[in-house]
Amino acid sequence: MSRVAYVNGRYVPLRDAMVHVEDRGYQLSDGVYDVSEVVDGRLIDEDRHWARLAYSLGELRIRPPMAESALRLVVRELVRRNRIRHGLVYLQVTRGRAPRNHAFPAVPVPPSLVITARRADPAAAARATSGIAVITVPETRWARVDIKTIGLLPNVLAKQAAKEAGAAEAWFVDAHGIVNEGSSSNAWIVTRGGEVVTAPVTAPILRGVTRIAVIEIAAALGIPVAERRFTLAEAHDAREAFITSTTTHVAPVVVIDGVAVGDGAPGPITIALREAFARRIAG
Ligand code: PDD
Repeated sequence: MSRVAYVNGRYVPLRDAMVHVEDRGYQLSDGVYDVSEVVDGRLIDEDRHWARLAYSLGELRIRPPMAESALRLVVRELVRRNRIRHGLVYLQVTRGRAPRNHAFPAVPVPPSLVITARRADPAAAARATSGIAVITVPETRWARVDIKTIGLLPNVLAKQAAKEAGAAEAWFVDAHGIVNEGSSSNAWIVTRGGEVVTAPVTAPILRGVTRIAVIEIAAALGIPVAERRFTLAEAHDAREAFITSTTTHVAPVVVIDGVAVGDGAPGPITIALREAFARRIAG
């Protein structure tokens, strides 16, 4: 079955899905995006994804392309047309199409909206079960990583560095040795004292929807979570580590910079959180 995309008001075959060369997203990365998951035909944590999209648009003063209620319907229709039971929805909004100029268009143009959907890769999910390796890279991103912008070059380079090192993710570490987050995931550790730690939202991180869900799940399981910053030294000394994201859920980290975390196998707290997350999205 050929895939269908939604581009500026039309459902089109993916092979014909195009935006203009003067789209400000293409030329200036002047846009935002979000990725959400479809499980059994349902969108997971949909309200939180919409809230984050509205936040990202608001911070950049990009007009919403349509009312949220209409956007929700378009996403549902796209999922239906692509016959997706389990998969991912990618939604991108840019400031629109205008002759290249750094400042916003003097006469506002309609924002561009592109949505694609694809089926989940079950092999990727299975790979995460046995644990992943991460490398660390210097934090080189801008100060507004709380906005989910399409300007992802440092993230792209970090992920590529991870891949070339045989790892699945790269953690951004700042000049003080503090771990911020991964190139496309939030970072967590479980200390030797059993404290589950992830950076607070005041740190330079994206407010991951999975991160919030896992904090709630941990609370329900009676596992306390400390939202505080942690160093790479603490991560190396940790008993367990893991990442969270829409695409990986809770994925154990078993190696950091070539050194085993704990005994080098997924830890019990990580597994408990991973399984509880799986139950939660299964409804
Ligand atoms: N990335 N941090 C960064 C930098 C991210 O790009 C993401 C998500 C996360 C986790 O957020 P969430 O739990 O809401 O997925 C944290 C998406 C999946 C992506 O870019 O494909």
